[in-house]
Amino acid sequence: MEESEISNQKSAITMNLYDRIPNNVNLSEDKKLQRALEKWLPNYIDWWREMGPDGFQEKDVWLRTAVDVGSEGWAHFDYVKMPDYRWGIFLEPPQPDAKVGFGDNYGRPAYQEVPGEFRNALRRIIVTQGDTEPASVEQQRLLGKTCPSLYDMRNLFQVNVEEGRHLWAMVYLLHGYFGRDGRDEADALLERRSGNPDKPRILEAFNQPCDDWLNFFAFTMFTDRDGKYQLSALAESGFEPLARTCQFMLTEEAHHMFVGDTGLGRVARRTAQLMKEGDVRELGGIPLDIIQKYINFWFSYSLDLFGGEISSNSADFFAAGLKGRYKEQDQYSEHTATNEIFNLAVVEDGELKNREVPLRNALNEVLRTEYVKDCEKGLARWNKVLNDEGRSERLFLPHPRFHRHVGEYAGHSFDIAGNLISKEEFESRKPEWLPTIEDREYVRSLMHPVYEVGKIANWIAPPAAGIKGKPFDFEYVRL
Ligand SMILES: [Fe+2]
Ligand SMILES: [Fe+2]
Repeated sequence: MEESEISNQKSAITMNLYDRIPNNVNLSEDKKLQRALEKWLPNYIDWWREMGPDGFQEKDVWLRTAVDVGSEGWAHFDYVKMPDYRWGIFLEPPQPDAKVGFGDNYGRPAYQEVPGEFRNALRRIIVTQGDTEPASVEQQRLLGKTCPSLYDMRNLFQVNVEEGRHLWAMVYLLHGYFGRDGRDEADALLERRSGNPDKPRILEAFNQPCDDWLNFFAFTMFTDRDGKYQLSALAESGFEPLARTCQFMLTEEAHHMFVGDTGLGRVARRTAQLMKEGDVRELGGIPLDIIQKYINFWFSYSLDLFGGEISSNSADFFAAGLKGRYKEQDQYSEHTATNEIFNLAVVEDGELKNREVPLRNALNEVLRTEYVKDCEKGLARWNKVLNDEGRSERLFLPHPRFHRHVGEYAGHSFDIAGNLISKEEFESRKPEWLPTIEDREYVRSLMHPVYEVGKIANWIAPPAAGIKGKPFDFEYVRL
């Protein structure tokens, strides 16, 4: 590409790929915003160098870079050193006559500016989403040093640079639509640190250590998938710049979940193979019960990210047309959700009882239910792997009430099947359900890097295919 501007006929928006900050929002026409973001850029690069992948910043990594929007042909693949990655600001093209698609303002023109009365709420939504992006990069920063293969290392770095781009996406909205407070929030996004007791990241799942590859795969399977559902709900937003931003982020997010889903499937496959040979531990594999405990841990923490089951915020955001349901336009014909009732089990007087909740107040739970259905598909794929390898054991999702720290079930104890139990019973059975220190140490003891082209660690099976038509034994990272 030689032109400094490529006009994309399909989307009729201009890709400015060679600006200091690549973008398709005509940044050069808004000098004030451009200056503000160019001021933020070096701070971002400093953050990346300090908190991004440790030890591989000067290596050539075969990465995809967004060069267009839309689902076809939007990415360019080549070797790049991560600090030179072209992070940019890309939104899906605007829809002519976009309308608010749900809530009290259903059918009115979409908001091109932040509605005044929802300014604080909307800023909070964007900051909370934005905070998860750098947080995950921080959580994963040491994993390159124990990668099971160069293929996996490349996927890790791909996820990392794209989380960095997602941070850019949210920072663009903060700078572009929230003035002074937005700029302050954008600075704070580079100041908090995952797991730091003094300045932690906002959401708990993003302060949990992600220091081995089983954690990484479970995180990208379950926690990135929460991101998919949050972004999908925001992609429906009546605040159009947010909707268009999230729509494009979802295009990138699919690969992150692919990494987690296939990663855990490959671990399960290798474990099943080793089970045929003898004792999995003696053979240096990860026993199925440890895989199950990691699933329990990350699934339950990821459920918390959806917020309380009964939530006036969710009702307000929906009413205002800011945050919709999953596939609001495709899946529903009635978009005000005013008269419906949602039935929910809640704890009352030490027992589980049914409570009727106005649907608008239960929208976090509605979104969480969609998420659980999606996770179940992953479990079915892994169980098919076990079946194909001749095993009758099965992996499963714990009940959504299990091990919760947010919402109606926080502060109560449930077993893995969702039965209310005493705190004492939970504590005594916890080692059956959640990774123990010994489990974590065992998994960590297997994490030795494999840096040779085409080689793979013993505890995981190779992928079914490489990336973008390249074979598994392609040199994905030049060390
Ligand atoms: Fe992300
Ligand atoms: Fe992601």
